[in-house]
Amino acid sequence: MRDTAWSAVDRYVETLFVGDDPGLAAATASSDAEGLPAIAVSAAQGKLLHLMARAMGARRVLEIGTLGGYSTIWLARALPADGTLITLELSEKHAAVARANLARAGCGAVAEVRTGPALESLARLAAEGGEPFDFVFIDADKSGYTDYFRAALGLSRPGTLIVADNVVRNGAVTDEASADENVQAVRRFNAALAREPRVSATVLQTVGVKGYDGLAIALVQS
Ligand code: SAH
Ligand code: DHB
Ligand code: MG
Repeated sequence: MRDTAWSAVDRYVETLFVGDDPGLAAATASSDAEGLPAIAVSAAQGKLLHLMARAMGARRVLEIGTLGGYSTIWLARALPADGTLITLELSEKHAAVARANLARAGCGAVAEVRTGPALESLARLAAEGGEPFDFVFIDADKSGYTDYFRAALGLSRPGTLIVADNVVRNGAVTDEASADENVQAVRRFNAALAREPRVSATVLQTVGVKGYDGLAIALVQS
């Protein structure tokens, strides 16, 4: 019952605030057709990421966990024409689907998909010594979240916003005895976020078509 209401409201929000969007619709359709799991952020969540990145005037965005590029499209659209988005994906198949989706949505010039284990790609980014990122979205394997956060911090500046998906896990995150390795990984991540003096953070619970989960939002302050 509650999930039915959550989904109905999510569809209502999508109708009002997103509407028909051929680029996003094609990305979802091709991800489904290629058999990718239906675990992209919702339209309402995608628009939230987009608005956050735009509000802060982000020019450089880092995403960890691309899948078919749905959240990537939302973030790429927040950038100016000369902006940069680098998105990290383990699966060559997911990356290929995402590249096609990004090109179709008109984001091919701004967004670069890099394949490989994210922790290795992050080390390479650090070695490249580019400008810090303004906005980071962590949404890959939950087991890596704490490491991804540490690496993201090293690629950030004061003022960078780091957002992470799936940190509530249907409420299971409060169960310190949980046998679910993903829950334990997210608990370690939330604890690391809370302990880290270089960020000020919170967690917002979310409901909707993706069920009950949550977003962590951390502002790098020093
Ligand atoms: N951000 C996407 C959803 C990402 S789903 C969206 O909202 O549209 C998580 C993705 O992380 C999957 O595509 C999975 O293949 C990828 N992934 C899993 N382990 C990874 C790793 N070690 N390094 C990089 N990507 C990984
Ligand atoms: C899973 C991963 C996600 O990024 C998500 O949004 C939902 C579920 C998962 O691995 O189960
Ligand atoms: Mg997710």
